[in-house]
Amino acid sequence: MGKFIIEQSAPLCGEVEISGAKNAVLPIMAATILAEDTYEINDAPQLRDVDVMCRLLRQMGAEVEEDYTQNKINIKMGPITAEEVPYDLVKRMRASFFVLGPLLAKTGRAKIALPGGCTIGDRPVELHLKGLRILGAQINDAHGYVEAVADKLKGGKVYLDFPSVGATENIMMAATLAEGVTFIENAAQEPEIVDLANFLNKMGAKIKGAGTDTIKIEGVEALHGCRHAVIPDRIETGTFMVAAAISRGDILIRNAVSDHVKPVIAKLIECGVVIDETDEGMRVRGDVNPLIATDIKTLPYPGFPTDMQAQFMALLTTVEGPSVVIENVFENRFMHVGELNRMGANIKIDGKSSMIPGGKHLYGAEVICTDLRGGAAVVLAGLVAEGTTEVSEIYHVDRGYEKFVEKLTGLGAKISRIDEE
Ligand code: EPZ
Repeated sequence: MGKFIIEQSAPLCGEVEISGAKNAVLPIMAATILAEDTYEINDAPQLRDVDVMCRLLRQMGAEVEEDYTQNKINIKMGPITAEEVPYDLVKRMRASFFVLGPLLAKTGRAKIALPGGCTIGDRPVELHLKGLRILGAQINDAHGYVEAVADKLKGGKVYLDFPSVGATENIMMAATLAEGVTFIENAAQEPEIVDLANFLNKMGAKIKGAGTDTIKIEGVEALHGCRHAVIPDRIETGTFMVAAAISRGDILIRNAVSDHVKPVIAKLIECGVVIDETDEGMRVRGDVNPLIATDIKTLPYPGFPTDMQAQFMALLTTVEGPSVVIENVFENRFMHVGELNRMGANIKIDGKSSMIPGGKHLYGAEVICTDLRGGAAVVLAGLVAEGTTEVSEIYHVDRGYEKFVEKLTGLGAKISRIDEE
C-alpha cells in the first residue's frame, strides 16, 4: 500500500496539461461491446480504472492494446465470449456496471454483479434496471447479481426520477440497437454523456439531445467501429484550479474546456481567484487578492459538481470567513471531513451540510484517502499545511488522476510517493 509524503510547499506556479476524462473513457470503452469491429480511442488517461475496464473487455473476448506513450487504446472487439461480469471486477470499479446495457443489447443476455455501496453512498441501480425493463428486458436481481435477458429490445419512454449519469449511459447504449425510438427524460446532462453520444453516433447510432434533459435514440440494425478522442477531464481541471487557489499560486492549465467547469470558475471568482482564458489555456491565480469564503451546493450538471466538493472544501478551510457546503447528490460524501479535521480544519457536519469556519492554518498529519476525490482534497491540504502530511490508501487517487505526483511536482509541489509492499 503506497503513501504520499507531502511537505508544506511554496505557491504552485507553472503549467499543467489536463488528461482525458476518466468518466468519459469508461462508458466509451463499454460501448465497444455493441459492435464486433476495431476502435481507436485517443487521449485515454492511464488510470487504474481504465486498466480494470481493459481487463473486463479482454475477459469478454476483446483484444485490447494500451499504448500510454501516445495515450491510445486500440480495441478489437470479437464475438462476445462471456456474458457475465464477476463481482471481483465490479467491486473494484463500479463503472463495470456500465457494460450491462451494451451486453444486453448485443447478446440478449447479461449477468452482472450488483455494485456494492462505497464510502460516498449506497449507490443503488434501480434507475438503470427501470430503464432496461421499459425497453423490454426481463431482469431479476438476486444473490448479488443482476440477470437480464431480452430477445430484442424495443424503444420506449424512460423518465429518470433522478438524472443519474450511469443510468442515462446504460439506457442510451442499450437503446442504440433497440427496435424503434427511445426517449430518456430527465436525463443527465454531463459533458461525459455528450462525449459518449458522440462516440456512439460515430459508431452509426442515431442519438439527438445529449447534453439536454431529453435524449432521443433511434434504434439501428447494427453499429461499427470508429476512432475517437476523449474529452479532457473537467474534474482534474477543477482540481488543479483549486490547487492554484489553495496554494495562492499561478497556474496555466492547458487543454482544459472552460465551458465544462463554469460553476467551479464562478465559485473561485467569488473567492477572489483571478481566472483568465488565454490562447495558451486557462490561467488561474490565487496570488492576486486575499481569498474569502463562499457557499457551495452540489447539484447534477450544470450545477456545481459533487466530484469537486471535497477539493473545494479544502480550499474553504484556508480562506477568510465561514462557509457552508451542502452535498445534494450523494448521501455520504463528507468522509474527507474527518481527515481535514485531523489537519486542524475544525469543520462541523450537520446532515447534508458542512460548516467550515475558515481562516485556518492547517498543520500536517497522517491522513487517509477516504475515496478518490477525498484523497485529492487531503493532498491539496497537505501542500499548504505546516510540516509534513502523510497520505495513505492512495490507490483511490490512482483510480482517477493520471501522473498526479509528476504534475504536482512540475508545479513546485513537495510531494513524493513511497510504494510499500
Ligand atoms: C457518475 O457516477 C460518476 N462516475 C461519479 O464520479 C459522479 O460522482 C456521479 O456520476 C455524479 O456526477 C462515473 O461516471 C464512472 P449517478 P454514477 O448515477 O453514475 C443516485 C468520481 O469521483 N442513484 O449520477 O454512479 C445515487 O445513489 C465518481 O469520478 C439512484 O438513486 O452517479 C447518487 O446519490 C464518484 N438510483 C445519485 O443518484 C440509481 O439507479 C447520483 O448517482 C442511480 C443513481
